[in-house]
Amino acid sequence: MTEKNFKKAKLILDNKELDLDILNGSVGPSVLDIRNLYSKLGCFTYDPGYGATGSCESEITYINGEEGVLLHRGYPIEELAKNSNFLEVAFLLLNGELPNSDDKEEFENAITFHTMVHEQLINFYRGFRRDAHPMAIMVGVVGALSSFYPDSTNINDPQQRLISSRRLIAKIPTIAAMAFKYSLGQPFNYPQNKLNYSENFLHMCFSVPAEEYKNNPVISKALDRILILHADHEQNASTSTVRIAGSSGANPFACIASGIASLWGPAHGGANEAVLNMLAEIGSKENIKKFVDKAKDKNDPFRLFGFGHRVYKNYDPRASVMRETCHEVLDLLGVKNEPLLDIAMELEKIALKDDYFVEKKLYPNVDFYSGIILKAMGFPTEMFTVLFAVARTVGWVAQWNEMITDPVQRIGRPRQLYTGKTERSFIKLQDR
Ligand code: SDX
Repeated sequence: MTEKNFKKAKLILDNKELDLDILNGSVGPSVLDIRNLYSKLGCFTYDPGYGATGSCESEITYINGEEGVLLHRGYPIEELAKNSNFLEVAFLLLNGELPNSDDKEEFENAITFHTMVHEQLINFYRGFRRDAHPMAIMVGVVGALSSFYPDSTNINDPQQRLISSRRLIAKIPTIAAMAFKYSLGQPFNYPQNKLNYSENFLHMCFSVPAEEYKNNPVISKALDRILILHADHEQNASTSTVRIAGSSGANPFACIASGIASLWGPAHGGANEAVLNMLAEIGSKENIKKFVDKAKDKNDPFRLFGFGHRVYKNYDPRASVMRETCHEVLDLLGVKNEPLLDIAMELEKIALKDDYFVEKKLYPNVDFYSGIILKAMGFPTEMFTVLFAVARTVGWVAQWNEMITDPVQRIGRPRQLYTGKTERSFIKLQDR
């Protein structure tokens, strides 16, 4: 928890002074407590994009962007990716500690037994065009879940929060797989309780009635690691969307649907799909320089997808694990020649030596390599952000629970710097 230390900052505005408490966390930058600023000095802070604003106190994830450090409840992401599995990391994010064997079994069973969806939910898919983007389906279907599970929408009841949290984590892969199957025109698969979380998702995505489905351990293990790498990431855009939606008292299903909507943007979770499309557009190593120059051109809105990050001004630790996994999976799958990977590696090499990228501290982020692995697994680019949403649902649910139980949290309602017209009288039509 935050401890108030005796250090204070003094703000002097015109002839008024205000002492601001400096609050320290367990690690990372301190924060200036400005909660009294408006009432005392009659002014707001101004921080478009919230680059220097702490919106909450949290114990879930810590990022040191300068050093490329990512901790989940204190555990480095590299160690979790190497030694843990997705449901264990989910338990950690939700509860603060790694589960012992009894907790692990209870949690895994609870998730397993909630993986089926209400049979009537299937009707929602029929309303979408077959070529609908699966993220459109995810936003719609997840938002509708509250109408099927009204018994777990009371956010003030800890038991209902627990059930809705587990239902969301359990059902999101089923809903995602159904969106994929619907786009293919193939029948939906029911979850199989004998499979683990990642195996089950792959089975629901790739199993067809015409033949027996065989789980490929290389792919299910790689998918599990990719889910771990995407599970949570502090107060990113979609997590902040979930928190602010939750701060109004909206039910958890609606909040997660709002997170999915925010994640879809190409500047955020949609970047993994945009990276693959960009690599395909580059097409060959010879074209890389042209695209790098475009990305550097102030007058060209084009940016290198998969590069840059609001927080990381060093290599995104998830990208390093993802790059390693990419080589591992392609080797194990016997993919000898993947031109997109060759282009990605060459692009990374060129960009990391280019002054523009060095000065602006633009490094590959989590989305740069993930798509190449997902493509090798058989997923189309439209499904990449859906997979990101499957993983991030755990982080959103953990952050939503933390926000609901935070005694100082209240409805999120930022102010503004108003630069519009000052008061004026109405002008009748005949006088305009
Ligand atoms: C995710 O926040 C999270 O934690 C997100 C995430 C998570 O796990 O939740 O990590 C997941 O969203 C990763 C990011 C995926 N997005 C992309 O790969 C899209 C490409 N990247 C950029 O659009 C950008 O880097 C952002 C959106 C990621 C960050 O934007 P910021 O922090 O607002 O940075 P900025 O736009 O202010 O850029 C700073 C400068 C600008 O140049 P100047 O105006 O200072 O001259 O760097 C330039 C930008 O033009 N820049 C880029 C660039 N990213 C930033 N130039 C070229 N290519 C890029 N990719």
